[in-house]
Amino acid sequence: MNDMVTITIDGKIISARSGENLLEVARQNNILIPSLCYHRKLTPTGACRLCITKIKGMSGLVAACTVTVSDGMEVTAFDQELEDTRRYLLDYLLSEHNEASDLSYEDEFKALVTRYGLDDPATRQFPSLWQSLGYPIDDSSPVLTYDASKCIKCFRCIKACDEVQGKNVLSFTNRGITSYVIGGFGVWGESECDGCGECIQLCPTGAIVEKPNKDILQTARADKRVKTLCPYCGVGCQIELVVKNNRIVRVNGVEGIKPNDGRLCVKGRFGCEFVGSRDRLTRPLIKRNGQFVEAGWDEALDLVAAKFNAIKEKFGNDALAGYSSAKCTNEDNYIFQKFIRTAFGTNNVDYCTRLCHASTVTAMLGSLGDGAGSNSIEDYETADCILVIGNNIIETHPVTATFVKRGVVNGAKLIIIDPKWTPLVKYADVWLQPRLGTDVALLNGLMHIIISENLVDKEFIKNRVEGGMQAFEKLNELVSNYTPETVSDITGIAPEKIQSAAGMYAEAGRSLIATGMGISQQVTGTHTVFSLINMCLITGQIGKVGAGINPPRGQNNVQGASDVGCSPLIYPGYIPVTDDANRKKVAAIWQISSEALSGDIGLTTVEIMQAAHTGKIKGMYIMGENPMLTDPNQNHTREALEQLEFLVVQDIFPTETTEFADIILPGAAFAEKNGTFVNSDRRVGRVRKAVDPPGAARQDWKIIWEIAGRMGFPINPYQDESEIFDEIAAVTPIMAGISYDRIEKEGIQWPCPTKDHPGTSTLFQDKFNTPSGRAILNPVDYVPQNEKTSADYPFLLNTGRILYQFHSCTISRRNKALTDFANQSYALMHPEDAMKLDFENGERVKILSRQGEINTILTVSEEVLPGELFMPFHYSESPVNRLTRDELDPYSKIAPFKLTACRVIKLKNED
Ligand code: SF4
Ligand code: SF4
Ligand code: SF4
Ligand code: FES
Repeated sequence: MNDMVTITIDGKIISARSGENLLEVARQNNILIPSLCYHRKLTPTGACRLCITKIKGMSGLVAACTVTVSDGMEVTAFDQELEDTRRYLLDYLLSEHNEASDLSYEDEFKALVTRYGLDDPATRQFPSLWQSLGYPIDDSSPVLTYDASKCIKCFRCIKACDEVQGKNVLSFTNRGITSYVIGGFGVWGESECDGCGECIQLCPTGAIVEKPNKDILQTARADKRVKTLCPYCGVGCQIELVVKNNRIVRVNGVEGIKPNDGRLCVKGRFGCEFVGSRDRLTRPLIKRNGQFVEAGWDEALDLVAAKFNAIKEKFGNDALAGYSSAKCTNEDNYIFQKFIRTAFGTNNVDYCTRLCHASTVTAMLGSLGDGAGSNSIEDYETADCILVIGNNIIETHPVTATFVKRGVVNGAKLIIIDPKWTPLVKYADVWLQPRLGTDVALLNGLMHIIISENLVDKEFIKNRVEGGMQAFEKLNELVSNYTPETVSDITGIAPEKIQSAAGMYAEAGRSLIATGMGISQQVTGTHTVFSLINMCLITGQIGKVGAGINPPRGQNNVQGASDVGCSPLIYPGYIPVTDDANRKKVAAIWQISSEALSGDIGLTTVEIMQAAHTGKIKGMYIMGENPMLTDPNQNHTREALEQLEFLVVQDIFPTETTEFADIILPGAAFAEKNGTFVNSDRRVGRVRKAVDPPGAARQDWKIIWEIAGRMGFPINPYQDESEIFDEIAAVTPIMAGISYDRIEKEGIQWPCPTKDHPGTSTLFQDKFNTPSGRAILNPVDYVPQNEKTSADYPFLLNTGRILYQFHSCTISRRNKALTDFANQSYALMHPEDAMKLDFENGERVKILSRQGEINTILTVSEEVLPGELFMPFHYSESPVNRLTRDELDPYSKIAPFKLTACRVIKLKNED
């Protein structure tokens, strides 16, 4: 408590931490000094002067927001002189301000005007001038409008964009009273603004307001505000849904709590319009004579149960399989896997994690005993070195990227490993651009340098690695072949760059790795992650705050769906299905005989589709997934789905996959449910219902529960989702201490084994989760890929995401704001290749692989290497998975979405 100081404010004695901001200390003690330019998340500006105070020993009036407290400080916050001055300052600001409000925003300025009795112009001493100043309105952005006549020049928007989001888009133009905010060099719409809306959220006057739904909030205030979690990526941002007439009209970031502390990206803020889309599925649909016709729930559910039972009886339990969903809650997913294991009687249950991070999880489980991210998002702000590999993190996990950028501002070195340019390269100290598929060689090369330069942490290896220095020597022997020159030949990266990155990573006090699908979606995915972990272990860069390895998850609940057992290999809590004791424990909680649970490992996602293709799988239940777009080798997927005897798809929209269904069941969207998601930090957070589902759509877990009962395998009746979560906690040791009441305000990071455990922000601090408690080195050699270019297929195609769309676009494309930003497939090609082939930017082209062909638009760009192409995988009209292969990483069974040999030809007008 040495850093505590005592101060007085208006005679009140207050304890505070030395160095705390005086305005904040006053607020915490309910002394509400007025302020406008100050915001907790920003450096103080001292522009509005409303927070003036008198501080004994200091001359003049002192802005409280610019002062830090020190012991013995005596502060006067309120007296007649201070209040008169504040009133005068507000009066002055009002003269330049257009007060007209459409009530569509929170107006801090108006609240102060009322507090100081200045609502009536007759009470003011300054005349209104703003109309004579000719302030402009900038309406050029797809998502916001700036009205300079409402701007009080407080700098909050500029600092929000710079300091919180790290984007530096805004500045002032003109001088004095006529100055106003501009985006980029002139207007928002032509600037680098990506629509995150941080400036909107922090503007205190409504000078910057959201465009979508502005008209609805004009007439009346919202009906309710509901805190829940973002439905897009695995950052798991806390959002507040503002609801009017059962419609989401606004999304705010929730300030002051983890993981995002109010920050959002464009998808979180402007991407929830889809919930109210007219395209939603609202009634069960049964396919009759090739056409879908509406049906009642009883008819549809009876038919589903009868068909699944018939397949079981005729072909056995393992002829059935299910895909669960990373978009659904833990409660939905838990009930889904319980259903597959009890009613179907098989472990054939999997979901999209197999398509994104299965290799990461396999390697992390093998080396560290745990497949989840080892650290917390806030660690990026304090790490000394950040290595981002195979992740275009500004577009895939935009809020995590804001923490990375703040880390760089705080002095962290940033290393990027990516074959394609990403926007984060602008912030990097070194960018290593390996040829596609050569990551293992590069990582072995980095280790070669680390070892040669004696940057190894021997104590860590001796104490925390299985086999100690002996195991290290085996790795050393292998990586000794990877000299910088050899690695340069394989990867195309200059030896000096490899050298420089190795030193940065190994010598930093704490180095943190963010991985991505660039390395995981390869046939060598597991090996690449093994190599990365080897590097963490020999340098001791894991097991402490700010050091470790983190695979940011692609979807909102990828982590949770694994945690609650949607896997062919494990029960909830990562307990192998093959172990008798585990089976007995799970069966006891589920109140069934352990004999009823299969002890055989089930099929993974791609294996399920392959088995459907060969006729082994006859019936499938797909909840909230769209394998027609997301699985590799689309033609193969189509044939597999066509072969099925019976397919049920439960979703919120018609998709490319529902077309193949025999029965479609309408589920509920995230904003229509209660439950939980788990983010990439292992944080279990609350999802809350804000609006009712449309038509007859139902909660997903209730639909599954109904089918189970009708198949003759009733699952316990649950009063509500909290009871399901309590059962999850009982089965899942890592969540045993978590319950809804504990995560009411903020989520808890697992492992949380007991009710009084605070949760775990950093894994492996004392031991690893392997049986010995020590991590395992897994030396791996670089093996060239089987997929080769040839005269017919001279390019290697890489695929990935963009900021404004999400996965197969099922939800993201149903938001006008997002499609206004980006709505068009493209393929990037290096200018040298374009010149050789006589292609022009913007030209329509056909891309062909050994698997299939698609049309798209060519974009000539230096973002890719010569000989390589890049395409976003979102767009159904150019489905890149028609091109990709279903060869699998032998360990994790992930498919190599990132590397496909292709050729590009010009499209003729008639194509
Ligand atoms: S919306 Fe985001 S990126 Fe655009 S100006 Fe505002 S803070 Fe900056
Ligand atoms: S737009 Fe809003 S936040 Fe920005 S300077 Fe003006 S009043 Fe302040
Ligand atoms: S970063 Fe991810 S979780 Fe956060 S708002 Fe954006 S999409 Fe949602
Ligand atoms: S809030 Fe302190 S000067 Fe504006």
